[in-house]
Amino acid sequence: MADIDSRGGYDETTRAYTAALVEAEHRMLAARSADEAGADDPDCPCKDGMFPRTVSPTTGRRGVLFAAGSALAAAALTPRRAVAQTAPAGAVLRDVAADPTKEPGVPVAEDGGYGTRSQFETERRLRVTIPATTPLSSWTTTPLDKGRGMITPSGLHFERHHGGIPTIDPAKHALFVHGMVERPKKYSMADILRFPSVSRMHFIECGANTGMEWGNVAVPTVQYTHGMLSCCEFTGVPLATLLDDCGFDRAKGRFVLAEGADGSSMTRTISIERALDDAIVAWAMNGEMLRPENGYPLRLVVPGVQGVSWVKWLRRLKVGDQPFGTKDETVHYVDLMPDGMLRQYTSIQECKSVITSPSGGQQLLDRGYYNVTGVAWSGRGRVKRVDVSFDGGRNWRTARLENPVLTKCLTRFNIDWTWDGGPAILQSRAIDETGYVQPKINQLRAVRGTRSIYHNNAIQSWKVADTGEVSNVQAY
Ligand code: MTE
Repeated sequence: MADIDSRGGYDETTRAYTAALVEAEHRMLAARSADEAGADDPDCPCKDGMFPRTVSPTTGRRGVLFAAGSALAAAALTPRRAVAQTAPAGAVLRDVAADPTKEPGVPVAEDGGYGTRSQFETERRLRVTIPATTPLSSWTTTPLDKGRGMITPSGLHFERHHGGIPTIDPAKHALFVHGMVERPKKYSMADILRFPSVSRMHFIECGANTGMEWGNVAVPTVQYTHGMLSCCEFTGVPLATLLDDCGFDRAKGRFVLAEGADGSSMTRTISIERALDDAIVAWAMNGEMLRPENGYPLRLVVPGVQGVSWVKWLRRLKVGDQPFGTKDETVHYVDLMPDGMLRQYTSIQECKSVITSPSGGQQLLDRGYYNVTGVAWSGRGRVKRVDVSFDGGRNWRTARLENPVLTKCLTRFNIDWTWDGGPAILQSRAIDETGYVQPKINQLRAVRGTRSIYHNNAIQSWKVADTGEVSNVQAY
């Protein structure tokens, strides 16, 4: 079996942050456990399953419920008692009929014209609360372990805010385009919405995703290791169209500055090549206007590039002939290299993948068949292949890719696995259309050291113990 790196590597401060993060995750998972499992019934079968309610699952009862992927299965077994007393976020709590064919259902359009989700579906974003964060500057993570297909529901899209979420009236919002342009302009939202639009599906990943894992295993579940990742359809006007409309200086204009209208005034430089390639000034996500937390009414979409450049609440674009060197790109979002130098403007999110189920904190019920599934992505184009290992990287098998496989977009993969009840280490390794192969963590550390935060695209390892408990390890 491969070497497993346990704890060690981080300095005291980072250890303290990590410990606080893990503790916070335990607290939130415990709260979720109470919500979901029907606290009044200690024997509720919904407490077992492939998706346990705590990260330290009990291993007592096995094989009761095969791959119970949602609370739906639990509800089927315990119709009334399993109902949570408070509705999960986004749901309305209703009585469950003993036989729904014998009672009238909920009247049509009682939801007021905007839908809700089932009260039995409980996954949610988790806010990270470590000493480095504040209520206004923090992030939430997408529950990738519960993900289906390639699209992230808007209500589960991860968030990263540096100054809270501004409430912006679209009737008063404006976008200024200036700098090295012939015709500086101020666009109202009405002006913006008149441009011809495009709709494209892309992933967005924060550069800090998986950032806690540089030195050693830090957090237990995929929601925390990889949850600053989402994938949506974005609709808006190509940035190239706006720059053309303002007559940008094609000879000398080399960079574009984007600025947000929030308290942090997030400002980032993107190259003119990227701006003219596939960047979008977007107003819609997943078929509806952007949500406030994702930049309503306007955000920049820069496919393949780290999330920080996707400036939300976009209010200003400036064309220049050199990088703008703002605070958000000189001090923050830079890579600390082993020699102590900071590497700037490493924006592309390189090819990466992760198995989302089974993954850390889950529990295999019994030996036998499992559909092992996960997501892969590349900031440089399409995913070409995903290989999966069940023995810590000694042997690899090629996974099935679900269609569509799109450029700079999440691609779901699946592979059959028969668990023999023994220990196993599960890994996925993605290869993109440029031929780039996702590296092992020790290969990445050899070049980048252990003190970085950003751009950790290493192969993730999940250990399956003979008890069926799945945990986060580093194997290479
Ligand atoms: N834009 C503004 N104006 N303010 C911000 O705090 N955060 C950035 C980026 N754009 C941010 C912003 C970061 S670091 C990331 S990862 C993405 O937004 C997150 O986008 P999301 O919240 O829609 O997931």
